[in-house]
Formats: sequence, structure tokens, C-alpha cells
Amino acid sequence: MIPVLAIDGPSGSGKGAVGFAVARALSWHYLDSGAVYRALALAAVWAGVALDDESRLSALASELRLRFDSGLTGDVNVFVNDRDCGAALRAPEVASAASQVAALRAVRAALLDRQRAARLAPGLVADGRDMGSHVFPDAFLKVFLTASAEVRARRRYDQLKGKGFSVTLPQLIGEIRERDERDAQRAIAPLKPALDAELLDSSALSLQEVIDQVLVMVRKRLII
Ligand code: C5P
Repeated sequence: MIPVLAIDGPSGSGKGAVGFAVARALSWHYLDSGAVYRALALAAVWAGVALDDESRLSALASELRLRFDSGLTGDVNVFVNDRDCGAALRAPEVASAASQVAALRAVRAALLDRQRAARLAPGLVADGRDMGSHVFPDAFLKVFLTASAEVRARRRYDQLKGKGFSVTLPQLIGEIRERDERDAQRAIAPLKPALDAELLDSSALSLQEVIDQVLVMVRKRLII
């Protein structure tokens, strides 16, 4: 069986940067499942589909054409239905739209096989909210990354400012709390650690320290 490392956690916990770096260190594939939900949200906005129209959204999800072209530095160009979405995928409005479409059962079902198809040799690092609890329940290691809302908002702030978005810290703290709440309260695949997940609080750790700790856990379980 192809090994999967699942990294789940709330927005801004660092799972994207950690997942990408760990995948690179292991020369494994990487799945950013949040980008899949964001891509669907963008496709819906482009097609004028309401964010609560479950049947049209799930049809859109089944037809979604997604391509990730990743550079060595961690920058990824994402093409949604053959259209380069540039920085739009990372916009706070798209994150919020993604969290609305992600709450719909038929949408999650329509995207399940697409995520599982990313399990390719020699291994996969998958990051998201339900990688360990739902999409890859047989992952050999499940890490649940957390950090305080303030620390996560500060990281998002630095990231978005760096990309030229005009945001404020209080606005981001509010948005992060709102999104956490929606992701944790939803009936289907709520944001919560799998029972067998390792909890890792990154509030007081640097990115490199988190990457190193995850790699130590991986090497303890896999003889590599
Ligand atoms: O991780 P990211 O912030 O890109 O995710 C955007 C939204 O997509 C999240 O707020 C969440 O609602 C949804 N999502 C999800 N399940 C995943 C990944 C993301 O519901 N596995």
C-alpha cells in the first residue's frame, strides 16, 4: 500500500508550508486539499452558481478540471477549468466561499475520489481538515497541527500582505474564528483530530522546527 502522511488542522496552522516541505524532503507527492475546495468555490463564482446550491455545486465538482504546476520554491500555479487563477485562489473571500461549499455533503462526496487519486508511489503527504479522519483513514501517520487563533492570523497576515492583499490583523482574527467555527460545527467531516492523530502545537515553534519534528515522526514509523 502506498504510504500516506495526513496533516490536518485549522487555517493558518502552517500545514500547507509544512506539508509541502515534508513532501519535498521525502520526494513524495503532495495534496493541498484546501486548494481543491478553493478551486471549486472559484469555479462556482465564475459560473454564477450559488454557494448553497448543492446539486449544481456537486455537478461542477465532478466536472472540475484542476492542474497544479509547482515550482521548486513552493509557489504553485493552479489552473481551474484550464484558467490560470493566479493569486485569486488565496484571496480571503475565496477561503470563505470554499468553507461554505465544503460544508455540503454532496460536494464532499464528489471530491473524494479526486483526492484519493493523488495517492501515488512512492508516497503522499496530504493536508487539509479530514485527511486522517475521512479521506485516508489508513494513513500511517496523522498529524493534527494547531496554533492559537492570534498566531495563525498573524501568519496569514504576513502571507497575504506579501502577496499584495489589503487586510488588517483584527479582520483576519475575526475571519479565522468564523471559519474555524463553521469548519468545526458542520455535520459532515468536521474539523477535529482523528482519534489516532498526533497533536502538534506550532504556536511557539518556527516553521523549520515543525518540519523537523514531523520528519522525526515519519522516520520513527517508516524505516527510511
Ligand atoms: O486549507 P484552506 O484554508 O485552503 O481551506 C479552505 C477551506 O476548505 C477550509 O476553510 C475548509 O472549509 C475547506 N476544507 C475542507 N476540507 C479539507 C480542506 C479544506 O473542508 N480537507
